[in-house]
Amino acid sequence: MKLNLNRKFSVLFMISINILLLFVVKTYAYAYNNTAYNKSEDDLYISPNIEYFMFPDGTKLLRFYRPMDDTGCNEPNLHLKLLYKNGTLSTFNVQDFSVPTFNYCRLDQSNILSPDYIKISNLGRNIDLFYIFYYNISDTAPTAPFGRFVLEVNSDGNILSNNWLGPASYHNYSIIGREGKFKYIYDSYYYFQLIDIYDPKILSWQKFSLTTNGNLYNQENDYGIINRDHLDIQFFNNPIFSFQTIDDGIGFIYSKNYSTATNLQPSLYIYANFYNPDNDEFTNPFIVYTTNVQDTILTGAICVPDIFGIGYKCIFQLQTTTPDIGHSFLLISFRSSGSIDDLEILGSSSADLAVRTNLYYGGYLLLYKNNLQNSCEISGNIYDNNNIFNSNFDSITLPNPCVIIDNYIDNKIEMISNITPTNFIISSFDLPKFINDGEYIYHYMNIYCIIYIFL
Ligand SMILES: *[C@@H]1O[C@H](CO)[C@@H](O)[C@H](O)[C@H]1NC(C)=O
Ligand SMILES: *[C@@H]1O[C@H](CO)[C@@H](O)[C@H](O)[C@H]1NC(C)=O
Ligand SMILES: *[C@@H]1O[C@H](CO)[C@@H](O)[C@H](O)[C@H]1NC(C)=O
Ligand SMILES: *[C@@H]1O[C@H](CO)[C@@H](O)[C@H](O)[C@H]1NC(C)=O
Repeated sequence: MKLNLNRKFSVLFMISINILLLFVVKTYAYAYNNTAYNKSEDDLYISPNIEYFMFPDGTKLLRFYRPMDDTGCNEPNLHLKLLYKNGTLSTFNVQDFSVPTFNYCRLDQSNILSPDYIKISNLGRNIDLFYIFYYNISDTAPTAPFGRFVLEVNSDGNILSNNWLGPASYHNYSIIGREGKFKYIYDSYYYFQLIDIYDPKILSWQKFSLTTNGNLYNQENDYGIINRDHLDIQFFNNPIFSFQTIDDGIGFIYSKNYSTATNLQPSLYIYANFYNPDNDEFTNPFIVYTTNVQDTILTGAICVPDIFGIGYKCIFQLQTTTPDIGHSFLLISFRSSGSIDDLEILGSSSADLAVRTNLYYGGYLLLYKNNLQNSCEISGNIYDNNNIFNSNFDSITLPNPCVIIDNYIDNKIEMISNITPTNFIISSFDLPKFINDGEYIYHYMNIYCIIYIFL
């Protein structure tokens, strides 16, 4: 079997599980340290538009911004800073970086907390490289043809490549995206996007291989189109969720809802199927879950390969609207053949989002996030290797944009817990160990994994 490195980088999202709290056997707060760092008032806010990460030497890349009065845009400056392990914060310059200033305008121009059009990510790679996404929209003629690009930048701030990702359009002072997503498949990154934002059935893909140094490069003619005709069976604008498979492909989860359930027909069907880019084939969709509860829809699905490499574990988030009983969620294990191994109803709650992350020394954390007006509330439960509840992760309120950083070097979870014009505080949490030192196992934490509608 080919080893898909991205299995290491898997994450499950779910909504908070209050029911599990009934089984609390012990509870303790985890020790955490607060460290305050000074910053300049020019770096007024922390940007929501970066998947915060660390370089392999432990240095964190932070992005700030400063809105310009009444323009709907931020100062045309990336405001990037490096936070070294010794606590020094210094300016990070990307050499020769110059993009049209419209990129610094906010998606919701009237909201100063809204993201701009520049995105930064390390694609979950934990290497000395990262990626800046931007649009080459003309500031003087915004309706002229333009599109999205990705820059590869190294930790010295040198731009190594600039690749075209596909066209976008401009309408009513906004960029109308066909914003795609990179997926790692076997040994390459594929950038998938919808060709027509109103037609989820047709995706385009572009393949980026890796050089021996780990740089992305786009080979000529390595692009194509995928037709997802099987999506005919889903209700037209229900979301589609994707996940990486064990063996070089992509899996999809999608759903069809009916207004009423009958004896013969449930009110909701959830399907899964797989795509293999080698032979450009989709497998036949199979049903992984049905329910007769009226007015129930699928609003979230996160799947990861299970640790034995034989199937998948998914967390489905369902919402029942009439009567409004909020979110509930389920843990389902299935194989690629379509057989269901396990189904657990985890409970229901009002949290907006939850992440499952393996801990550095065994066990896992279910982290719940409740979005509040200008902040979010984070809480969680920790389980041991046998899925037995161990302890609570006490609730903490974070200011927007609710930054959580996986400190994979010190084996801690870190959060930006306070921000003022002149400083910010990082809280750093120690987590329990369920195996001995030296038996370090893989983990992954990525609260920024956005659920991509249609892809
Ligand atoms: C902190 O580390 C950085 C990078 O290694 C170095 O340039 C800087 O001088 C250090 N600062 C202090 C106060 O030690
Ligand atoms: C953006 O880049 C594309 C691809 O290189 C090019 O065709 C287009 O003219 C550019 N648009 C602008 C406004 O520079
Ligand atoms: C243009 O955007 C504004 C706010 O961004 C919105 O109120 C307005 O309805 C939009 N107009 C059109 C024609 O879409
Ligand atoms: C399915 O759910 C969507 C979203 O809630 C709703 O708009 C639609 O009417 C439902 N479809 C049917 C056939 O009930």
